[in-house]
Amino acid sequence: MFEQLQPIKADAILSLSVEFRADTNPNKVDLGVGVYKTEEGHTPVLAAVKQAEAFLLQNQASKTYLAPTGNAGFNDRMLSLVFGDDHIVMQNKRARAVQAPGGTGALSLGARLIARCTPGATVWVSNPTWANHIPLLQGAGLNLKEYTYYDGQAKAIDFAGMMNDLNNVKAGDVVLIHGCCHNPCGADLSLEQWQKLTDLINDKGATPFVDLAYQGFGSGLEEDVQGLRYMAANVKELLVAASCSKNFGLYRERVGATMVVSATEQSASNAVDNLGVVARAIWSMPPDHGAAVVDTILSSQELTTLWHQELKEMCDRINGLRTVVASSMKDAGIAQSFDFMTGEKGMFSFLGISPEQVATLKRDYSIYMVSSSRINVAGLNSNNLPYFVESMKAILG
Ligand code: LMR
Repeated sequence: MFEQLQPIKADAILSLSVEFRADTNPNKVDLGVGVYKTEEGHTPVLAAVKQAEAFLLQNQASKTYLAPTGNAGFNDRMLSLVFGDDHIVMQNKRARAVQAPGGTGALSLGARLIARCTPGATVWVSNPTWANHIPLLQGAGLNLKEYTYYDGQAKAIDFAGMMNDLNNVKAGDVVLIHGCCHNPCGADLSLEQWQKLTDLINDKGATPFVDLAYQGFGSGLEEDVQGLRYMAANVKELLVAASCSKNFGLYRERVGATMVVSATEQSASNAVDNLGVVARAIWSMPPDHGAAVVDTILSSQELTTLWHQELKEMCDRINGLRTVVASSMKDAGIAQSFDFMTGEKGMFSFLGISPEQVATLKRDYSIYMVSSSRINVAGLNSNNLPYFVESMKAILG
């Protein structure tokens, strides 16, 4: 059986970490995988998480199974975090959530629910998008189409191109949208653009599927979901895949949630039951620890306040770095402007250099980034920034 398998090309994002670890250059810089790093280049366990874990260690009474839909307290708190308790879909009980293993698990559950409703449905994904969206959606038996999103020349969203492509959406299609902090380009839709997109989705009879992997990393927890909340209030149905990997720093604990907004309370409940059946057939029950931590934090005023502070610190550091990178490039005499980075959000930006230049940076300078020139801005700090800027000057002239 296994003789038939072919060797596979290494994952474009994850393989960078392996190469980086093997590199012995003391000046090496890792701008690859999207994990937050402190000024010291460390990905910490948040203090709020540590305290929640200490609480669980003392108080968790059992590790018996929960349910395929996960921890009910966690699910409710995640809905409040994403939509806000006053939102119409919360008031009408049209929004429900199911715990999933990470944002990827949440996306996969959502994709499988779509396939259960409409086998072979078409999902429109932005060009560019997170590389894993493609195999994940295809693996659920869905068909993919691309819509224009980012203009590499203008270093901005090509909204006219996006709307033009989405004009070809058919009734029953799904449109995958990055909720905030677009991965890989960092360029986010304005509220006005979310409003226009909502109108188009309604005109076409399509369903939005929002990937929300970075809530709190752009401008703040509330600010980052303004577009999503507007859309949720104005469409019949919507799916969200929320991740707690980045905003709670719980990467390896694998915790996220698939959320469904449906036309009625009954159809939302049916959707959750179907999600439970899908989950049961894949992992049966989601891993508990990460969700228990998030539930503990969000059910304590004190821990929530601490978490808000820590999240703001991460967000402010990244936004500060964006300004410092752009000005350092200018100060170094690099003709090309990087000011566009200051208007972008979240961990990522495209530097806008060629794959050959990316390869040169890796080979000659031990600076690692995805070949599209996507960098994890959080990988920069005051120690490695001068070396990064100097190396960029060397390749750009
Ligand atoms: C990334 O895009 O770097 C992160 O979302 C990590 C991953 O799994 O690809």
